Amino acid sequence: MSGHNVWTHKGTFLLAAVGSAVGLGNLWRFPYLTGENGGGAFILVYALTIFAVGIPILIAETMLGRTSRQSPIMGMRHLTKTHKTSRAWESIGWLGAASAFLILSFYSVIAGWALHYTWLMLTGSLVGADAQTISAGFDALLASPGLMTLYHTLFIAFSALIVAMGIHKGIESGLRIMMPALFVILIVVLIYGIINGDVRAAARFLFTFNIADLSLEGWLHAMGQSFFTLSLGMGAIMAYGAYMSSEASLTRTAIAVAFVDTAVAMVAGLAIFSLVFGAGLETGQGPGLMFVTLPLAFADMPFGALVGGVFFILVLGAAVSSSISLIEPVAAFLVERFDMTRPQAVTIMVIAAWAMGLLTVVSFNVWAEGTIFHALFGRSAFEFIELLTNIFMPLGGLLIALFAGWALTQSEVMKELGTNITWFKTWRILVRFVGPAAVSFVFLRTIPQVEGYVIPTLGAVLIVGAFALGQRLRKSAA
Ligand code: PFF
Repeated sequence: MSGHNVWTHKGTFLLAAVGSAVGLGNLWRFPYLTGENGGGAFILVYALTIFAVGIPILIAETMLGRTSRQSPIMGMRHLTKTHKTSRAWESIGWLGAASAFLILSFYSVIAGWALHYTWLMLTGSLVGADAQTISAGFDALLASPGLMTLYHTLFIAFSALIVAMGIHKGIESGLRIMMPALFVILIVVLIYGIINGDVRAAARFLFTFNIADLSLEGWLHAMGQSFFTLSLGMGAIMAYGAYMSSEASLTRTAIAVAFVDTAVAMVAGLAIFSLVFGAGLETGQGPGLMFVTLPLAFADMPFGALVGGVFFILVLGAAVSSSISLIEPVAAFLVERFDMTRPQAVTIMVIAAWAMGLLTVVSFNVWAEGTIFHALFGRSAFEFIELLTNIFMPLGGLLIALFAGWALTQSEVMKELGTNITWFKTWRILVRFVGPAAVSFVFLRTIPQVEGYVIPTLGAVLIVGAFALGQRLRKSAA
């Protein structure tokens, strides 16, 4: 499949974008970050950024992909030429590739945990287990770099295989069944949580908005999470947009993606926190939250091993449909730019991300403390990578909004949006001013507060990056 192909069905983009958006971000990351950041206030910032900033940028990113019909890096290169803007805008593509690579590295490790739990569920190993046994089991998984590497390898290899074969074969029909099934089973878990847990306490925790509860760094994580969950600001949506049919509505599609994505996160959050409060567990226990609370429900519910097995299979499916969208933009670039075959491009990307993933693996055991990451950044390698993505994705989104808002012409955007002038004007205010202002506000307020040498390091990376980009541009201009 090359960048010039277009998906034949109008609805395929919607399906692929929902597949990309709904994943571990909703089921694993959203609940755990909400728990760590004190609940409601985090959700408020998250929801506001999704709707006021996320949707307009989602439209912008899809639009850039669809007008250029190329992979993000080559697409941006093309657009800077046709719109006579600085080629530095190409950095949107490069920044995106960096984010994709960083995210894939840890995403696959966490998906590996789901693989482990699928196995535990289907073998009935946890039937009747109590909270202590389950959390001891999770700790044992974390303590084993070997096991985690094995699962990580299996997951990333499987995702690579799918992208190498050309993504839309089979995925489409798979998603059509899987996504609704995932939602149904989440509702089942929620109902179990309502009956056996404490849904009132959960609702109070999630929907009591006291903005003072949120730390400054919490703001950054909330905004980062809203980009993460929508797969936004890093080229995945642009890469898919390149295949989107010209007839499909950008606005309606973006709203639908954001709506479904938020609904899944909310149901997952309510279900998980009902169980957390019901069993007296800790809300702020970190990345293990989903993996110790849900198995507890499955251990006890009728047919729990089967329901749990199916649940984790669906989690894996949702994770695969997201991870392929992380591989796609970089792979498509390597194909377009270096004339590689798809399998070659995918292999390179995935081997690099796999190796990087080992940093996340060891962050939970042998490198859990006392490493250079702790000394420099006050956190583990995994936490540092997560922090970087929470900065890179909104930054990418900011650049996308500015480019789409200022460089694209009115007639071009009107044609893409296919709506009336009022919506066009509203959208343009949102991407020209509101989105960039919101992202800058959160950055300026929070990044200076981040612990450790994060700022000097980021500064140095940005300067070196800008220099390298400048050199390249000069060379290519000569
Ligand atoms: N949106 C995915 C999730 O919530 O699990 C994660 C993700 C996929 C982020 C693709 C970024 C991306 F490009």
